[in-house]
Amino acid sequence: MRVLVTGGTGHSGSYIIPELIAAGHEVTGLARSDASAAALSALGATVRRGDLQDLDGLKEAAADSDGVIHVAHRQDLLPTGGINAVAAAEIPVMLAYGEALAGTGKPLVAAGSIGSSGQLGRPATEEDPALLVGDEHKGTLHARNVVETTVIGLAEQGVRSSVVRIANISHGTSDRAGFLPMLIALAKQNGFASYPGAGTNLWNAVHTRDLASLFRLALEKGEAGSYWHAVEDEGIPFREIAEAIGSRLDLPVVSIPMDELMLPGHYGFIANIVTKSYPVSNNITRRTLGWEPTQPSLLADLDNGHYFPEGRS
Ligand SMILES: NC(=O)c1ccc[n+]([C@@H]2O[C@H](COP(=O)([O-])OP(=O)(O)OC[C@H]3O[C@@H](n4cnc5c(N)ncnc54)[C@H](OP(=O)(O)O)[C@@H]3O)[C@@H](O)[C@H]2O)c1
Repeated sequence: MRVLVTGGTGHSGSYIIPELIAAGHEVTGLARSDASAAALSALGATVRRGDLQDLDGLKEAAADSDGVIHVAHRQDLLPTGGINAVAAAEIPVMLAYGEALAGTGKPLVAAGSIGSSGQLGRPATEEDPALLVGDEHKGTLHARNVVETTVIGLAEQGVRSSVVRIANISHGTSDRAGFLPMLIALAKQNGFASYPGAGTNLWNAVHTRDLASLFRLALEKGEAGSYWHAVEDEGIPFREIAEAIGSRLDLPVVSIPMDELMLPGHYGFIANIVTKSYPVSNNITRRTLGWEPTQPSLLADLDNGHYFPEGRS
């Protein structure tokens, strides 16, 4: 296929492009700067200049392709508008793809998040629809659910649209701004690694190389209107992640009482995310697409050195 990839220079996209090329696809990457264009060329993609804010350009690029993988996002909006602004900016982009691809049956695979937190009383499955965006979820990744709903809605217009819900932690060598580097930096700054309360809340993780193979499978054979779960570790107690960080940095590991999470030096704007539990299942994804994660689990990848280039302290 001739595949348009947005976000190809980012954490996920820089694994997705080589995965697609290795499988025989031709990739066109969207670049908004010379530096991004050079990075995309180095990955083997053809460069198409453009920007998420140029909707007409996106429509043309999508119409010129056999399918779209969308993992770019307006992270520049995060400091001022938070995740709500980032998610809101995604909607017109998805609708633009919808206009370009309506009635063609061509695939659109977009990034989502494992956003269902604990309240289901069981692991979230691919059949669980995106949760509503209520005030109780303000400031969390739940804001992205509106994006998921929009993408899945395009299936009714003849787009083979699907959403890959990405684990809380997508780990790999290009992870520079995810939760894991944030937690490692916090531990270094404080001189201790930490977890909230008892630390029994469950987080999930995937290796970014496995994530890339899932995006490819969803593009190649995912049915219209599907959700896929890019998750290998389906539920790791947060305390175990903190203990792994502490042991790699030779730092003590402490519990932060729940009423102190927002105090300076602790979790700040991610406090309401680190306390939540995100148990999740990947059964439907594995069974339907034949996806099998082959890369190291989160705790094994933390031993590979790339998160701790300076070694133990
Ligand atoms: N990483 C995770 O752990 C995780 C977990 C759950 C969900 N997700 C979701 O997965 C998606 C991909 O995340 P990621 O971590 O791979 O992204 P990332 O590393 O932050 O990369 C963002 C990409 O978006 C591009 N971009 C930003 N603004 C743009 C614009 N105005 N026009 C065109 N391109 C633009 C950047 O290109 P430049 O080179 O031009 O900057 C870059 O390639 C996001 O939607 C994210 O919310 C990620």
